[in-house]
Amino acid sequence: MNEFYKCALCGQIVKVIAEGKGQLVCCGQPMDVISNFKSVSEILDFAIEKEEEARQFYLEWAGKLENKALGEQFVVFAGEENKHKEKLQRVKSGSTFKPAAKQVTDLKIVDYLVDIAPTPEMDYQEALIVAMRREKAAFKFYNDLAAMAQDDGLRETFLALAQEEAKHKLRLETEYEKEIYSEN
Ligand SMILES: [Fe+2]
Ligand SMILES: [Fe+2]
Repeated sequence: MNEFYKCALCGQIVKVIAEGKGQLVCCGQPMDVISNFKSVSEILDFAIEKEEEARQFYLEWAGKLENKALGEQFVVFAGEENKHKEKLQRVKSGSTFKPAAKQVTDLKIVDYLVDIAPTPEMDYQEALIVAMRREKAAFKFYNDLAAMAQDDGLRETFLALAQEEAKHKLRLETEYEKEIYSEN
């Protein structure tokens, strides 16, 4: 059995590869087990939280970058993440997203989390890696939600979100490659 635990304080995720005795502790408190989603609103809240994280990432780095054009691009992305968040909030309040209960509880939270947590002291390259993985996870998440949507309008909404995240990921990858080559 492979269980995942997350620290509610620092965000560290731990995978259990062998069962032992005792409790997993991080930052001085017991870690929470990461399970499957329990309800549609939990799924949407998770998506909303991830959009907010992405928005903050782009805004934070837009202010730090020397490359003006890229900074402006990041501000645009932050605006797009904000629109995604608003879209999800509308989906949540509209309650038209009604996947079957089994589809909801089969969805594993850990499939949409990235395996490295951002830290305040990470450099631009490391931050890009976290961001690329998040965009990839977001892309997969929205594609999976699209497959669970019962009406066409909602399916299109999720597919459009997936496409925008794919576009973000591609832009970050291009930037990451430039960073790597400029160092050698
Ligand atoms: Fe987004
Ligand atoms: Fe994105």
